[in-house]
Amino acid sequence: MKKMGYYCNMELMKRTTDCGSLRKDDAGRTVILNGWVHRKRDHGGIFFINLRDRYGITQVVVDTVNTAATGTDELAAICAELRNEFCIAVEGTVRPRPDDMVNPAMSTGGIEVIASKILILNRAEVLPFQIDEESNANEELRLKYRYLDLRSAAMQQRIRLRSEVSFAVREWMTSQGFYEIETPTFIKSTPEGARDYLVPSRLYPGKFYALPQSPQLYKQILMVAGFDKYFQIARCYRDEDARGDRQPEFTQIDIEMSFVGRDDVLSMTEGLFGHIFKKTLGVDLPAQFKRLSYEDAMELYGTDKPDLRFDMPMQDFAPFVEAGVFQAFKDALRDGEEARQQAAAKGVTIAGGGVKVLVVKGKADYSRKQIEELEAQAKIYKARGMAWMKVAAADSGAVLEGGVAKFFADNAAQIISGLGAAPGDLILIVADAKRRVANTALGAVRSKLGKDLGLCDPARFEFAWIVDFPMFEFNEEENHWEAAHHMFTWPQDKYHAVLESDPGAVKGDLYDLVLNGYELASGSIRIHDPELQKRIFKIVGFNPDEAEKKFGFLTGAFKYGAPPHGGIAPGLDRLVMLMAGQTSIKEVIAFPKNSFAVSPMDDSPGEVDKKQLDELRITIRKEPGV
Ligand code: AMO
Repeated sequence: MKKMGYYCNMELMKRTTDCGSLRKDDAGRTVILNGWVHRKRDHGGIFFINLRDRYGITQVVVDTVNTAATGTDELAAICAELRNEFCIAVEGTVRPRPDDMVNPAMSTGGIEVIASKILILNRAEVLPFQIDEESNANEELRLKYRYLDLRSAAMQQRIRLRSEVSFAVREWMTSQGFYEIETPTFIKSTPEGARDYLVPSRLYPGKFYALPQSPQLYKQILMVAGFDKYFQIARCYRDEDARGDRQPEFTQIDIEMSFVGRDDVLSMTEGLFGHIFKKTLGVDLPAQFKRLSYEDAMELYGTDKPDLRFDMPMQDFAPFVEAGVFQAFKDALRDGEEARQQAAAKGVTIAGGGVKVLVVKGKADYSRKQIEELEAQAKIYKARGMAWMKVAAADSGAVLEGGVAKFFADNAAQIISGLGAAPGDLILIVADAKRRVANTALGAVRSKLGKDLGLCDPARFEFAWIVDFPMFEFNEEENHWEAAHHMFTWPQDKYHAVLESDPGAVKGDLYDLVLNGYELASGSIRIHDPELQKRIFKIVGFNPDEAEKKFGFLTGAFKYGAPPHGGIAPGLDRLVMLMAGQTSIKEVIAFPKNSFAVSPMDDSPGEVDKKQLDELRITIRKEPGV
C-alpha cells in the first residue's frame, strides 16, 4: 500500500513554534508544529491529537466531518493511520478553547490548533511501553529502549536539570577564577581504591592504559604547574559492583586549589552548592553547612553519611549497664575493654565495646514482627541481636515493659529520665564488644526507621560536613593499614610524630560532604612534601620501589616546589539524583549501565573481532563455566 504524506523536505513544514508555547493571545495565528503523537483520540471522525516535543504538549484537532475543504480526505486518511510516537508536522490555526474545555494542567491548555495539513515525518512501530507510563515498565526494558524512555516528561525534566546543574557549576567556578582543564582518560594504572578499567595498547603489546578512577593525580600536578584553581566536570571509571548510587562510569565535579587550608575548600564548596540550588531549584541553602566530626557522626548516627532530615540520635546505654542485671551487655563492655587494653599495650589505639540505644518516640505500639524486622537490619551490620523495651505509663509514673525490661527493674527510672524517654516510646539497644559494630548496626536501624516512618522528605536538603576522619583503617583480613580515603591526604599536623607508632590514632585533613544520607563529595588537603608522602606509602605497605614505579611521576613533580594544595570532588550524578528526589543515579544519566554493568541498548560490553584482538596480541582464555 502506498503510504501517504511521507515527506522529509523539512523546508515545507519547518516548525514556527514549539509545542509548549501557544497561549490564548496566539488565537488566529497560523502555525506549524513538529513533534510526536503523544495520544490520539478519534471521536467519530473528529480527531484529537496531543502533539509533544521537548517543550510541552499541544492539542491538535482535525475535524474531518464538518468540513468540506479540499484535502480533507487525505487528512482523514493520515489521522486514521497515526499512532502513538509517529513523528509529524502539523500546520493549522490557533483557536482558543471554549471556557469549559480549558485544561489548566497543560501550559497550552487554553488553546488548540485546528489542523489544515499533516505530514508524517516518520512512522513508529508498536511501542514496548507507552511514553509517560514507563514507570510500569521494568528497568531492563526501559534501558533497552532508552530513546523512548528518555522521551517521557519525567526523564526529560531530569536530564534538563542535569544540564542546568552543569551550567551552574561552570558559571560559579569560572566566576570564582577557576580554570576548566581537561585531564587525560588514558592514564597509567595506579591503585586508587577500586579496580581499574584497562585499555590495551596496540602500539605497545602487553601494555595497558587505565581509565581514570578520578583525575586525582593530574589535578595535583596541575597545582604543581601553577594553575592555582582548577575544576573539571570529569568522567570517572571504576570497575566495581553497581548499586543504586554507583555506576561503573560516572561524573565528578572535580576541584583543586593551591595555598589553601581545609576551611577555604569547605567555604568555596558551600558557595558552589548555594549557587547551584538557588539557580536551578530556587532553593536557598544555609551559607554554612553543619559540621560533625567523624567520631560524632559514628556515635550519634552510626554512619559517616547520616541522614539529618530527622533527628533521633543514638545515645550511650553503657552508664546504665552496671546497675542492671543483663549479662550480655556487661560481657560486651568487658570483652571490648579487654581488647582495648591489649591493643593499647602494643601502642595501638582502638575503641572498646559499646552499648548503644535509640529512643523511638511514640512507637511503643510496634509489634514483635516490626521489631524483628528492625533486628534483622541490625544483624546485616553484624550485630548479634537487638534488645528492646517499651516505656509505659503507670500510677507510679513511667515504667519499662517487655523485652529486656525485667533486667533493669532497679534502675528503670534513671534510664527513662537519662534517655529523655516518655510513655509510649520504644527503646532499642545494640551491644557489642566492638563499639563500631554497635554503632553501625543501630545506625542502620535508625536509617530504616527514618524510611519506614516517612521522616525523609525528598524536598528537604540537609547538608553536613563530616570532618576529622581517621587517616588509616586496619584491614583485618589482609592484616595491614590502608588509607581511609587515599594516600595523598595530609595527616593533621599534630599527628605527624605518631604516624608510624600509632596509625589508628591519626586523623587526616579530609572531609566528606553528606546530603540526606548520601556521600555527595570527598576531598582533602594533600601532602605536598615528598618525604611525608614516602612515610605514608610505607605505612600502607607500599615498598619504595613499588611506590616509585606507580607514583614516581607525582612524587617527582613534588620535588619542584609543589605548593600546599587541597580539593574536593562532588559526584554530579548523586547530586542531581538527590535534587530530583530520586534514589537511583540511573534516573539522571542518559545512558546508564544496568546492575550487571551492561548496557541493554547497545549490548555492551560485546565481543570483538579476532582481527582486533590479533592487533592487540590478545588471546581470550576460555575457562569452563565462563
Ligand atoms: P571519591 O572516591 O570519594 O573521591 O569520589 C568522590 C565522589 O564521587 C562520587 N562517586 C560515585 N558516583 C557514582 N558512581 C560511583 N561509582 C562513584 N564513586 C564515587 C561520590 C563521591 O563522594 N579523587 C577523590 C576526590 C578528592 O579527594 O578530591 C575521589 O575521587 O559522590
